[in-house]
Amino acid sequence: MITFENVTKRLGNRAILDGVSYRIQKGEVFFIVGPSGVGKSVSLKHMVRLLTPDSGRVMVGNDNVSAANGTELEKIRERFGYLFQGGALLAWLTVAENVALPLREKTDMTDADIMAKVMDLLKMVGLENDSEKMPDEISGGMRKRAGLARALVRSPEIVLYDEPTSGLDPVTSRTIDSLIAKMRDDLGITSIVVTHDLHSALSIGTRIAMLYGGKIVEIATPKDFVNSKEPEVRAFLESQFITKEGVWERNIK
Ligand SMILES: Nc1ncnc2c1ncn2[C@@H]1O[C@H](COP(=O)(O)OP(=O)(O)O)[C@@H](O)[C@H]1O
Ligand SMILES: [Mg+2]
Repeated sequence: MITFENVTKRLGNRAILDGVSYRIQKGEVFFIVGPSGVGKSVSLKHMVRLLTPDSGRVMVGNDNVSAANGTELEKIRERFGYLFQGGALLAWLTVAENVALPLREKTDMTDADIMAKVMDLLKMVGLENDSEKMPDEISGGMRKRAGLARALVRSPEIVLYDEPTSGLDPVTSRTIDSLIAKMRDDLGITSIVVTHDLHSALSIGTRIAMLYGGKIVEIATPKDFVNSKEPEVRAFLESQFITKEGVWERNIK
């Protein structure tokens, strides 16, 4: 579905992606993990041509998104929903109007049809009673869920999630995880999730790729990921109290 073919991208005089290749299959919940500044968001941006590789290419199905322009690029982008880091709701619009925005801008659906679709989505993310609230009247978790509803409003095949659980409490984070898993189970959506949150990756991921030093240092199922021998992966797991057996262990004496 999405293929990185030997992608190299330099930013600020550093090879952020240094000959990266991988393929994401249709229907996966594919995680990209790694420390801050390692190129996770940069990876997502290549999938919708917000960034273009210096060399190599990114394919979406049979389309070379890295060379696409104009209506061809528009068509590829229509296949995607994007939950940006931070949620990014417009402060001066209600929750419902934020979710409705892509339909108002990009379709000629009637008001009644738009609102029916918006309310369906708000119900799915558990915000049916908050549609008339303003973004600053709801919690961070609710804003993420509203952002998710907006990402889904045009029925995308693929959804990109940039740190969907960052800044949320653990219980709310698990709710977001369940929603991402539900998108795949109910709607067959392919998901690509960028996160620091290994709990999410291990519980709902089909595969986890770890970026480090411009390279994919590991790409594995959750079960194999916790058993990885790569030192960067071990350090990352241990920083979140995950041992080789995949159990939680804190060294509190
Ligand atoms: N448009 C840009 N211009 C220059 N440097 C950038 C740009 N976008 C990202 N970077 C740099 O690329 C690196 C990776 O960024 P990013 O993918 O956002 O990291 P993260 O893995 O935390 O999402 C960072 O060092 C960042 O400063
Ligand atoms: Mg980022």
